Amino acid sequence: MTSTTRTRVLTGITTTGTPHLGNYVGAIRPTVQASRNANTDGFYFLADYHALIKCDDPVRIQRSTLEIAASWIASGLDTDKVTFYRQSDIPEIPELTWFLTCVTGKGVLNRAHAYKAAVDKNNAAGHDTDTDVTAGLFMYPVLMGADILMFKAHKVPVGRDQIQHIEMARDMASSFNHLYGEHFVLPEAVVEESVALLPGLDGRKMSKSYDNTIPLFAPAAQMRKQIASIVTDSKAPGEAKNIEGSALFQIYQAFASAEETAALAQAYADGIAWGDAKKVLFERIDREIAPMRAQYQELINNPAKLDQILLAGADKARQMATPFIKELRHAVGLRALSSDSSATAPKDSKVALPSFKQYREKDGRFYFKLIDAQGQLLLQSCGFTSPKEAGHAIGRLQSGGLGALIELNHLFEPLDQEAQGLAVKNIEIIRSISEKSTK
Ligand code: TRP
Repeated sequence: MTSTTRTRVLTGITTTGTPHLGNYVGAIRPTVQASRNANTDGFYFLADYHALIKCDDPVRIQRSTLEIAASWIASGLDTDKVTFYRQSDIPEIPELTWFLTCVTGKGVLNRAHAYKAAVDKNNAAGHDTDTDVTAGLFMYPVLMGADILMFKAHKVPVGRDQIQHIEMARDMASSFNHLYGEHFVLPEAVVEESVALLPGLDGRKMSKSYDNTIPLFAPAAQMRKQIASIVTDSKAPGEAKNIEGSALFQIYQAFASAEETAALAQAYADGIAWGDAKKVLFERIDREIAPMRAQYQELINNPAKLDQILLAGADKARQMATPFIKELRHAVGLRALSSDSSATAPKDSKVALPSFKQYREKDGRFYFKLIDAQGQLLLQSCGFTSPKEAGHAIGRLQSGGLGALIELNHLFEPLDQEAQGLAVKNIEIIRSISEKSTK
């Protein structure tokens, strides 16, 4: 177990656009709230290396970095309490990306959603599979893995579309740990179930790529105008409206209390005119945003101050990253020729240990297996509905050994006798190790 009970929370925002209400509700607001928890250490950063994958306009990258930094601070992020930095100010991150690249299966990256979507699109259009696909897009999950693993993040708040990337980061961490010793913490995705997906002006998910966003810090008059353009059906004033499928209602819900939401639902049933509903929505959002708008403008007008804040954040981040990358360089064998090679990384004994591997199958379910040092399959789990459940079962096996194995027998594919014997032996090895490490 780690020597500290503090939870490290980390997340990044790609610097390609202007923050919109979807970013605010799905990422910035919950993250800023969580950052006030006294038992957590927050790491929040501007993912500008990631931005280069999607955007080749330098002016936009710079402007977006400015706007996102100002937005987070104006939204209440306390940069003295958390570590707030620019990804590209941390040279250790590209170096770690390479280490992780070398323990990541190419086939794993073939299955990454963003890359697969690009390939599927090409195939559907009859183009060559990799037309216009950069190696940057292909490597996206590895760079993200480096962001997360560099700071030993326990929890990573993300949108649903990013869960797969966190799972990949976990796999990279376990592969590396398996090969080189326990260096990385296995991160977990955190998705705010209630508000993670905000619809945009046209009812689809609010996203820059759909051009349906409402900028977070647009002047009030512009925000009012944009809210007036949210799609609705053509029901007349006085006609009852449906809250199901109403983008307007869903956006309201993301800002309103339960009572306010219930009141709007009642107003829908009573036939509120769409124009009036939009006014209610604008006023509710503006009540939350208006006080932050002034600070946002002040920061935007003072970029040198933001530079200073970000560089101070990078300094803080590198106090961890610099010694850690040194440790990792040593672990993989990039070390002084005069250093004692026998003193570290008892590779043989590490490799001789059995290990759990977690993964996801095409059926969408989460599995794990136990394999021994030679790669022989010892246990094969059934499918779980969440990675958490699978992780929970692993945890019980790790701490409970044979007893847990018998108790959880129904969760595994049947084994032949020889495999059963091996599984029992290895589970006990794991239990004795985890016992030692918690003492
Ligand atoms: N890929 C994330 C997104 O598009 C941004 C990101 C980059 C990130 N690195 C990260 C998020 C590390 C969490 C942790 O939303």
